[in-house]
Amino acid sequence: MTAREAVRSGANGEAFYAAIVEQIAHPIFVKDREYRWVVLNRAACELFGHKREELIGKSDFDFFPATEAEGFRASDRRVFGNAETVIIEEESITRPDGSVRKLATTKAPLFDETGAITHVVGIIHDITPIKLTEAALRVSNEALEASVEARTNELRDMQEALVRRERLAVLGQLAGGLAHQIRNPLAAMANAVAVLRRRLKKVLQGDLEAAQAIAIVDEEIWEANRIITDLIDFARVRPPTRKRVKVKALIDAALAHAKSELAFPVTVRGDSYLDVLVDERQCRDALANLVRNAFEAMGEEGSLTITCRDEGAFVVLAFVDTGPGIVESVRRRLFEPLNTSKPLGLGLGLATARSLVRNQGGDLVALPAVGGAHFEVSLPRDPSGTEDFPIVTG
Ligand SMILES: Nc1ncnc2c1ncn2[C@@H]1O[C@H](COP(=O)(O)OP(=O)(O)OP(=O)(O)O)[C@@H](O)[C@H]1O
Ligand SMILES: [Mg+2]
Repeated sequence: MTAREAVRSGANGEAFYAAIVEQIAHPIFVKDREYRWVVLNRAACELFGHKREELIGKSDFDFFPATEAEGFRASDRRVFGNAETVIIEEESITRPDGSVRKLATTKAPLFDETGAITHVVGIIHDITPIKLTEAALRVSNEALEASVEARTNELRDMQEALVRRERLAVLGQLAGGLAHQIRNPLAAMANAVAVLRRRLKKVLQGDLEAAQAIAIVDEEIWEANRIITDLIDFARVRPPTRKRVKVKALIDAALAHAKSELAFPVTVRGDSYLDVLVDERQCRDALANLVRNAFEAMGEEGSLTITCRDEGAFVVLAFVDTGPGIVESVRRRLFEPLNTSKPLGLGLGLATARSLVRNQGGDLVALPAVGGAHFEVSLPRDPSGTEDFPIVTG
């Protein structure tokens, strides 16, 4: 009798129940006390990947990897041994094509009229799709958490930057005003030293200590003036007074300005006779800051190479030094003011240099370098090309 005939013939009867078991979509099996299959519905045969006649009378060890079969056998034994229903929340089964399914299985004992357990009946729930969904959900959850964390960090950084900027704006104004005030007495002091040096020329020739003292005063006035120039440059960048100038002239001015006694080799390479249209003084101050930083990083041991190249609308100056490179602690906020690794540094050099260069319509960036530091300054070309008189704008 086919399953369909059994159902049509009405309720009751073995065939009717067999038809129900056969039609249930979940895999169902019955094993005897020798752990051999005696009943398997269609879903079970499909899951196991074998025909019913191949499976009947055989056990798990005939079809599945030993580790899996041992697990199935252990739970069967618990059913027979303890006369209890066993729920296996998750187990794996490897099918003949090598695919692995995740199963949740319930096994229960079948008793005969004397109360002895004769069989174990199992019903399987294939939870592979649920497990896959769970895994996908876990992955997307993790991605979500990561992106929330990244966004939170970003917001915190932005807030910190905002607070810094506000503080700096106030500080900048104050410092800018103050610097202007200090510059005048400094200029007077420099003049006075020049007068003294002239008047005491003869005395100084014979008195080395006095001559050194005068030199120190000169030097320190110069240093104070440099700090003040940086402060003023940073606090209020004026509109540029543009002029056509060769990058060579800018580099020479910067090297001279950086510090008269900087004693380390500087090589200028590439096409340094290209013209740019910039504010000379502002560019000189910006480049001088890069030269000074290179010197401070290396001392007299290292060397600096400045390579000029034509990039269409811009001339790019690459500053590459042989020093130790930029330390990790300042790298993240390299161009932010007050970011320094030097005990006596203000941390204004790069911030000032960048704002000066951007003021020309150019840019200043730091590039990754293998040893040493690598900065690149781009300055706008002179678009007018051939004219040979200076153009003054702004
Ligand atoms: N060529 C370089 N090699 C290694 N580190 C550098 C170099 N240039 C800049 N740095 C790092 O960047 C930091 C910031 O430089 P920046 O010129 O802005 O400030 P500073 O030199 O510390 O102080 P200031 O220029 O105001 O006297 C430096 O303290 C240093 O750690
Ligand atoms: Mg500096």
